[in-house]
Amino acid sequence: MEISRIRIWDRPVRLFHWSLILLVATSYASGKGGAWTLHYASGYAILTLVLFRILWGFFGSENARFAHFLKSPVAALRQLARLTKRDVDRETSHNPAGGWMVVALLALLFAQAFSGLFANHDPGFSYSQHGPLALKVDEATSESLSALHLAVQRYLLLAIALHVLAIMAYKLVKGHELVMPMLTGEKLVPTAVRAPRLASGRLALGLFILAGASVFVFIRFF
Ligand code: HEM
Repeated sequence: MEISRIRIWDRPVRLFHWSLILLVATSYASGKGGAWTLHYASGYAILTLVLFRILWGFFGSENARFAHFLKSPVAALRQLARLTKRDVDRETSHNPAGGWMVVALLALLFAQAFSGLFANHDPGFSYSQHGPLALKVDEATSESLSALHLAVQRYLLLAIALHVLAIMAYKLVKGHELVMPMLTGEKLVPTAVRAPRLASGRLALGLFILAGASVFVFIRFF
């Protein structure tokens, strides 16, 4: 079978992905270490990235769109049932199971960063340490969003572990190389496979600025 190298992941998706990893690590370490200024800054950055990725999922490159890679749950289960079979990788986006994992990760990241805005860190609730919007809501709301911030963290860590394990399983069991395309953008696929249409970097920059501005306005004027 003839194999060609095609570009599947645009630069915005790759930048999004690798900066997200850095920011998640920063948020975790700064939260554990009590470096709150850094913790809040990386939370804003995560919110911006997630918002950007949602916009890119509607207006971005063909294979980055939700409508392109979100298939039915049955298709996702069928995909998982084939996990132990070695086959030729023809995928130019997320596979049906991976697509749902992407949505789960984005939802958890959003819940984690958004709840943090309203959270407080003081068990006695004296507001000595709190998220930037904690004083704008009543105590009960801040308390429940603080509880959410702690609970979602566990699910997020679990989802990340599953995400990385799945990528390793695809490599070791099925022989599919997913990490290199996320690094270089390029993937080796059978020649018959069509390369996806990639959207412009300028559009990505515009949507990124829009996402950042929305986060800023929300925090400033809530
Ligand atoms: C060393 C750790 C990681 C590696 C090697 C890795 C690798 C990858 C790869 C290869 C993909 C594409 C999968 C596919 O082809 O369908 C992907 C997608 C994704 N990963 Fe990771 N990942 C890592 C950590 C993380 C972390 C910590 C997060 C944060 C929650 C994350 C969030 C995502 C998201 C949201 C996508 C979808 C990207 C998009 O469509 O824009 N990953 N990852």
